[in-house]
Amino acid sequence: MPSINPQKIVVFTGAGVSAESGLKTFRDNDGLWNNYRVEDVATPEAFARDPGLVLEFYNQRRAQARNAQPNAAHEAIARLEEKYEVVVITQNVDDLHERAGSTNVLHLHGLLTEARSTADPSLIYERGLADLNLGDLCEKGSQLRPNIVWFGEMVINIEPAAREFVDAGKVLVVGTSLQVYPAAGLLKKAHFHSEKYLVTLEVDYPPRHFKWMRGKAASVVPSLAKNWLQA
Ligand code: OAD
Repeated sequence: MPSINPQKIVVFTGAGVSAESGLKTFRDNDGLWNNYRVEDVATPEAFARDPGLVLEFYNQRRAQARNAQPNAAHEAIARLEEKYEVVVITQNVDDLHERAGSTNVLHLHGLLTEARSTADPSLIYERGLADLNLGDLCEKGSQLRPNIVWFGEMVINIEPAAREFVDAGKVLVVGTSLQVYPAAGLLKKAHFHSEKYLVTLEVDYPPRHFKWMRGKAASVVPSLAKNWLQA
């Protein structure tokens, strides 16, 4: 078993960390998956069938992200870098961790700010939060798609993310229902002796060995971070 690094924190986040920035979660009441069918907007088959509908769904997500600002939880996570080596591993496709100042962020499910070629997946373009429309092409002349992991596709960065967990002295999980694998399975990689915290409102199966601090991210995370910075 690798030795533990007490100065290293892995922060693992989901949609709940951005809820207080005004971005909808997926599975809460009025969450995105209560208003859209996954099969219509978030699968490769949906994009093949009706690319305009899928692009419109993600343009709406971008419009919301353009109007959103990082909240106190994103900011507190960024501040931890003043004293710790911090790796943020997020299931979110928004860029609020980066905008809050976190410098080491791994996105497991892709990013709204990136587009990728449908002809050559190695061609990835940074486009900010501008709309992506039918007719927007890669340099080889093929339609661009969101660089988002759709259901049925391989999760990006899962192995580097797993490696980050194993020696972290602290693991902080924020705002996720832990229902989507393989992302949720990463928690099992945490070191036996690490300090483990879960900050979220609802979770069906609280992970073993995690201290569940039930509450809103923007309230709970800043006080936890303050204690760690003062320790
Ligand atoms: P979910 O919508 O499944 O879960 C959101 C979690 O955040 C729930 O546990 C809520 O109780 C909690 N929550 C809501 N508001 C909160 C707040 N203000 N403070 C703290 N917690 C709060 O979202 P994820 O777990 O992120 O994937 O979903 C995982 C993946 O499922 C997403 O990345 C997305 C989705 O399908 C893809 O689209 C590939």
